[in-house]
Amino acid sequence: MSSNLHFEIPLYAIKEETRIPFNIYRKEEEFYSMIVEQNDIFPKKLASIISQSANKAMYIKNEDTKKYYSYLESVLGKITSDTFVSLKDKSKLIYDTSSKIVNDLFEKPESKEAIERSKKLVENTINIILSDDSSIRSMMEIGSHDYYTYTHSVDVAVFSIGFANYLNFSYEDISNIGNAAMMHDIGKSKIPQEIINKKGKLSDEEFEIMKTHPIHSYEILQFHNEKNEDILKAARNHHEKARGNGYPDKLTSKNTHTFAKIIAISDIFSALTTKRSYKDAFSSFEALRLMKTQMIDDIDKNLFIEFIKFMSKSSI
Ligand SMILES: [Fe+2]
Ligand SMILES: [Fe+2]
Repeated sequence: MSSNLHFEIPLYAIKEETRIPFNIYRKEEEFYSMIVEQNDIFPKKLASIISQSANKAMYIKNEDTKKYYSYLESVLGKITSDTFVSLKDKSKLIYDTSSKIVNDLFEKPESKEAIERSKKLVENTINIILSDDSSIRSMMEIGSHDYYTYTHSVDVAVFSIGFANYLNFSYEDISNIGNAAMMHDIGKSKIPQEIINKKGKLSDEEFEIMKTHPIHSYEILQFHNEKNEDILKAARNHHEKARGNGYPDKLTSKNTHTFAKIIAISDIFSALTTKRSYKDAFSSFEALRLMKTQMIDDIDKNLFIEFIKFMSKSSI
């Protein structure tokens, strides 16, 4: 069998003693040999043999990647709550599954299934962050340094959840902030691709269209019957600025929901610390300095001071 028909999977993605919906192979020299057959249980003994061997690589067929990702999502809760799995592997798993989930969400924003998967992902992310103080650092190391709308959504959710936890918010509030953060830019799915993917500066007309994305995010949430005002406002108002010169509602700081302000700070921080076609990624320190020197009039000062403290506690 030719190697391009195979896709490598990490051992941490497989939960022992669960039923595996695809064949798993090991590679010896040029040859792939099947070690677990579709619908068989992955034995605990096999997991320990592989974990102790020098070559830990396992493979599945390319055609099974869809099955693999839905398997990952089905065991995500079990793996993230497993005390024997390292924080690094848990963080990787969150990012491995999230890119698929958020990608599907952006392709089909009206899909109920995609929303449910996204909520489950937020719940698992919160569980990791709440269980270990150093999880934010681990996630920041794993998170993408290139900008894609779907990894950006997860980054913003991770920062917002971590920050809300740092501020001692209740579990319910942290969950609402996380879900709103995951959905904050979902409205971009309604903006023409040529505007989203444009390399150069947007024209005034294009920017006016771009500025409607928070309203679309709000409407998509409403389409899904979201009634929680905290979530709706957090998503709709993540581009408001403290002096009322943001969009879409031109709210001043006083009238902007705290959750929207938290997402706004996380959103700017995520954009600055990732690479774009027109700029390099800033380090956390440089990003915070830039926010302080050039954007301080746009964001909530008190929250920003707390955000600096939170980041200096969490980041590298
Ligand atoms: Fe946005
Ligand atoms: Fe954003």
